[in-house]
Amino acid sequence: MTATRLLASQHRQVLALVKKAASAQDVETRRRLLQAIEHHLTTHARIEEDLFYPTVKELATENAGEMVAKALQEHRVVGLVLAELLGVDPADERFEVDMTMLEGLVEHHTEEEEREMFRLAEKLDEAQLEELGDRMAARASEA
Ligand SMILES: [Fe+2]
Ligand SMILES: [Fe+2]
Repeated sequence: MTATRLLASQHRQVLALVKKAASAQDVETRRRLLQAIEHHLTTHARIEEDLFYPTVKELATENAGEMVAKALQEHRVVGLVLAELLGVDPADERFEVDMTMLEGLVEHHTEEEEREMFRLAEKLDEAQLEELGDRMAARASEA
């Protein structure tokens, strides 16, 4: 699978989990979804930061560096909200407030990534995107 297709499918998966968690009322469901979200978000961010972003940066277009810096900053913000959520009692109404905030952040970040960074990555040829995708899938399955 190409790198961009792999990342886009992870985006859909994580967004679906976050949306479900934001509307879940049952405490056990909230707990289970939060664990899954933590796992998927952490793995996703790691393969982007270790493999995808450096490749995009190497394309060295005018805006690639800035694009990557902004994305890294957004990962930090997502990480902060996630860390906050991990400390919230899933029975508390703050869970829904924080999860809804996480949903907005993840939605914004993934849309922007797909619109701007994936388009830039398409400067690579299909074989390069496939090879990068394979390396990312291997890394993700180690997690
Ligand atoms: Fe990202
Ligand atoms: Fe992403």
